[in-house]
Amino acid sequence: MHYHLISFAFFVIFAHYIIYGSLSLQSLLILFTTLLLKQTLAEAATCSNCFTPSRAAHYPNSDEQGTDVGACGFGSFGATVNGGDVSAASDLYRNGVGCGACYQVRCTNSNYCSDKGVTVVVTDQGSGHNTDFVLSQRAFGKMAQTTDAAASLLALGVVDIEYRRVSCSYPNKNITIKIDENSDYPHYLAFVIWYQQGDKDITAVQLCETKNSVCKLLDRSHGAVWTTTSPPSGPLSLRMLLSGEDGDESWIVPVNNIPENWKGGETYDTGVQISV
Ligand SMILES: *[C@@H]1O[C@H](CO)[C@@H](O)[C@H](O)[C@H]1NC(C)=O
Repeated sequence: MHYHLISFAFFVIFAHYIIYGSLSLQSLLILFTTLLLKQTLAEAATCSNCFTPSRAAHYPNSDEQGTDVGACGFGSFGATVNGGDVSAASDLYRNGVGCGACYQVRCTNSNYCSDKGVTVVVTDQGSGHNTDFVLSQRAFGKMAQTTDAAASLLALGVVDIEYRRVSCSYPNKNITIKIDENSDYPHYLAFVIWYQQGDKDITAVQLCETKNSVCKLLDRSHGAVWTTTSPPSGPLSLRMLLSGEDGDESWIVPVNNIPENWKGGETYDTGVQISV
């Protein structure tokens, strides 16, 4: 609307020119139409905040929260993070790159659903009945206006929704490394990354020896799990590559190293967070 008003203002100015100047009416009309069309197209192209229509189901189990055994490999974090407002994703899982991404999801039935909906974190892969999301029951109910409406929504099982990617926010948390229990010191290291704020993806992870800055690129074995056989030795400095939707990339380098005697099951605070 804003752009259309600007175009209109231009038009008025040019109209004055026609009366007092020498430009032809026809050429000005063409100019005006072009301006209007260009701006309409630009608005459509830059609509990164728009909602996308889809469908959502909820986990069939009676568990309110998500699942400990989600495909992302987050373990119990995948069930309880964000207060248990979590989801499985189908295409948005993106071979694990989508793990940890946050989405605002709202159902569209105006009898039951609130405008705000719910913000969920992707911690699992799954789909059913053409859904993009399989929400925890807790998150599914949160899309409703009232407790009664939540019960009605849950009974429906699958609902029409719209969603958009939003920034994750974990107040008072730094990005944290959770060493996987399957790690085998010092031969095999596997870990997941917890509490990544913002709306970008971690698309590569490097481990560097602090002594000589020799770095090794890790593999995404599945979900959010990064692994390497024969990890570098000594205290390890981590680097995470952040990739945005618009193609911009930047490395985050934690303040804290992973200690040289890292252990499966331990968590290590990186001392950094992505500001949102
Ligand atoms: C996050 O890391 C900083 C050091 O970079 C530290 O001072 C702060 O206490 C950490 N925050 C939490 C919540 O652990």
